[in-house]
Amino acid sequence: MDFFARIRILSLISVISIQLISNVHSNPNTFNVQDYGAVGDQRTDDSWAFLKAWNATCSATTGTATMIIPKGKTFLVYPITFWGPCKSTTVYVTLSGTVKAPEDPSAWKDNDVDKWLGFQGINGLNINGYGQLDGSGQKWWDQSCKLNPGKRGCTTVAPTVLGFRECKNVNMSHIFVISSPQTHILVIGSENVNLGALIIRSPGTSPNTDGIHISNSNNVLVHGSIIESGDDCVSIGDHSTNINVYYCDCGPGHGVSIGSLGRSGNEVHVENITVKHVHFKQTSNGGRIKTWQVGRGQVRNVEFSYLNFKDVQNPIIIDQYYCDRPNACQGTKTGVKISDVRYIKAFGTSTTPVAINLNCSNNVPCTGITFEDVQLESASSKDQVTSSCNNAFGYTKGIIKPNSCLK
Ligand SMILES: *[C@@H]1O[C@H](CO)[C@@H](O)[C@H](O)[C@H]1NC(C)=O
Ligand SMILES: *[C@@H]1O[C@H](CO)[C@@H](O)[C@H](O)[C@H]1NC(C)=O
Ligand SMILES: *[C@@H]1O[C@H](CO)[C@@H](O)[C@H](O)[C@H]1NC(C)=O
Ligand SMILES: *[C@@H]1O[C@H](CO)[C@@H](O)[C@H](O)[C@H]1NC(C)=O
Repeated sequence: MDFFARIRILSLISVISIQLISNVHSNPNTFNVQDYGAVGDQRTDDSWAFLKAWNATCSATTGTATMIIPKGKTFLVYPITFWGPCKSTTVYVTLSGTVKAPEDPSAWKDNDVDKWLGFQGINGLNINGYGQLDGSGQKWWDQSCKLNPGKRGCTTVAPTVLGFRECKNVNMSHIFVISSPQTHILVIGSENVNLGALIIRSPGTSPNTDGIHISNSNNVLVHGSIIESGDDCVSIGDHSTNINVYYCDCGPGHGVSIGSLGRSGNEVHVENITVKHVHFKQTSNGGRIKTWQVGRGQVRNVEFSYLNFKDVQNPIIIDQYYCDRPNACQGTKTGVKISDVRYIKAFGTSTTPVAINLNCSNNVPCTGITFEDVQLESASSKDQVTSSCNNAFGYTKGIIKPNSCLK
């Protein structure tokens, strides 16, 4: 399959509602990593050259500055962070070559085992260029505790390919992000982040390889992208507001998830989330909200619309019964309040009998749930699908199949 052909189709569709991120600009203020000693032969450690080129780019005082990672080369880079703030008003990174992580997990020091490449504290960053970030995930997957439960020396934490931490005004487009040891792209503590025309790719069997994880962030847009992974295509964590996921293909993977929220019994606030025009193919979930029973706070104003499901295990699911150990949370009086969640125009097939599962909390029922033109059927022609509700209140409009169970 030609991925960029599919991206072009997705982007063409998404341009109707979203202004595309421009990736064409001329700029004399350029800093090529090769001029700072990067070799790009896959073997030489080019980390120091990348840091020096970044430093020059970030310190350039006239307007915008561009760091160039040229085409046709593969640069071996160890875990590094590109720090801001920068003197230049907007920093461009033209990533046209491949940047590859070391294959051996022993290359990581204990204190940065969750990171590979990071951008931190930058206001005004634009990454594009049709290049590739390769996280060399295989050896991390091989030693993960998830795939080797109880094995001595197995690992639960592994690097994220690309992290945006405390960044503002970020555009990233036309980049391949592949083979991540864990989450591919992390957006945390950031604002105004626009991720479009990305191809994110790891095997469906790779453990905890979320496509994009967003938390503690405001105003993040993910659009026109193809995400194939071993965990959530997009996951939205605690304290996330105004997050939009538009025109994406998801699968394999665990779907688009809000949560899991409130893991440590903390108060969460998630508001204004829209997941629209997303195709789910052979995923374990479609649109999911999951919260820990010990959590507190609220999720409100969520729209899942124009969704298409192809052989999805749980096309529509709310699970408010996440708990560390079975039965450990039975006495809890807590829960994350979920309200105003709309499912509009969702069609396709479910591989399990319960196509709609709203398993809401006894303590804080789900309110203001709406279904409008939702039609799901079984992936196998002979079976019927049903909906299941627990403490879920709201109303429906249009044709709903299977029949709604809302109170
Ligand atoms: C970073 O750039 C500044 C300004 O150009 C320079 O003074 C400093 O030595 C550079 N540091 C490194 C590590 O290259
Ligand atoms: C990001 O893209 C938007 C839309 O094209 C543009 O208005 C904005 O200036 C861009 N920001 C950066 C930092 O490149
Ligand atoms: C959510 O969206 C509404 C309507 O656009 C807006 O008034 C409200 O401020 C938003 N909430 C947050 C937390 O940004
Ligand atoms: C709802 O959650 C409870 C607690 O985890 C579980 O026992 C039950 O099977 C769930 N119901 C459905 C329909 O999934």
